[in-house]
Amino acid sequence: MIDYSKDTLDSSTDNIMSTKYTPEDEAEGSLRPRTLREYIGQDKAKRNLEVFIESAKRRGEPLDHVILHGPPGLGKTTLAQIIANEMGTTLRKTSGPAIEKPRDLGALLTNLEENDVLFIDEIHRMNRAVEEILYPAMEDRQIDLIIGQGPAATSISIDLKPFTLVGATTRSGQLSSPLRDRFGIDLKLELYKPEELRRIITRSAEILNVEIDPDGALEIASRSRGTPRIANRLLRRVRDVAEVYAGGAITKELADRALLMLDIDPLGLDAIDRRLLVSIIDNYGGGPVGLDTIAATINEEPVTIEDVYEPFLMQQGFLTRTPRGRCVTRRAYEHLGLKYIGPNEELGGQTSLNL
Ligand code: ADE
Repeated sequence: MIDYSKDTLDSSTDNIMSTKYTPEDEAEGSLRPRTLREYIGQDKAKRNLEVFIESAKRRGEPLDHVILHGPPGLGKTTLAQIIANEMGTTLRKTSGPAIEKPRDLGALLTNLEENDVLFIDEIHRMNRAVEEILYPAMEDRQIDLIIGQGPAATSISIDLKPFTLVGATTRSGQLSSPLRDRFGIDLKLELYKPEELRRIITRSAEILNVEIDPDGALEIASRSRGTPRIANRLLRRVRDVAEVYAGGAITKELADRALLMLDIDPLGLDAIDRRLLVSIIDNYGGGPVGLDTIAATINEEPVTIEDVYEPFLMQQGFLTRTPRGRCVTRRAYEHLGLKYIGPNEELGGQTSLNL
């Protein structure tokens, strides 16, 4: 029997717990559900979509424009593909920062076939001039393009075929109101519950031909930050460990050991989550402290902290956002094995003692 209790895997946890889409996630393609029936979780969004898709199909019209918002890795691209599949049309994909000029968006829109779905990821990062092309496109299926320069410039109006725009954003607060108002369907995606992730992992394991028992799947699910992209990535890493040490089968015990080797703790916090919490406790008495200050202290981008780390830490009840800044909760102290000794007026927050 090999003792692997002291092993650590040298794969970076930054990478494995990142919600960013990486080349390795290409393999995710085969795991993605293709229909609403196959899609697990997000019940509210799914129920709404089912009704809207069915009624658009009955009327023979394209689906109204859809805005999807929520943290990264929750399946916004997957849902856009499902919308196109369910409507029996084609998905065209692009992203806000990739469209540099109004003319680029004009070309995309005029090349759409009837009832196509145009997916714009990170739509909040589109520049204003490009965004303004979208308004008449969404409302009147028309675009106005300026041809030529200076006094010879003329404006031409081009009619578009009926289409559905699906926009995705991690930051709905950054959408301008003229853009937001033009989406008829607004769907908010939530972090997944462990039971939903367990079903996703079980489905993925079946596709990947990996043997896993229900408790093994639940163990990975509970440590995946509510995010299918992370759950599928952890499944592949745990499978690697299972193949080397346990003849391939994933049990709860094996999943637990493999995840500890990856520095992912029993509640799914990774090294950066812990660094963020400990740094607020050690440097700012547990808070309140401003986002930019924390970001500078732990050397991460404020947007990454806000979009990726905070939603999970807040969902777990480890962090709160207050008007005066971020505060670490008593529950976080306890999880980190630190003694919570209540508010400290001098520091404007709390202090901790190592147990
Ligand atoms: N794979 C990734 N996300 C999924 C989901 N929501 N349902 C089923 N399989 C998935």
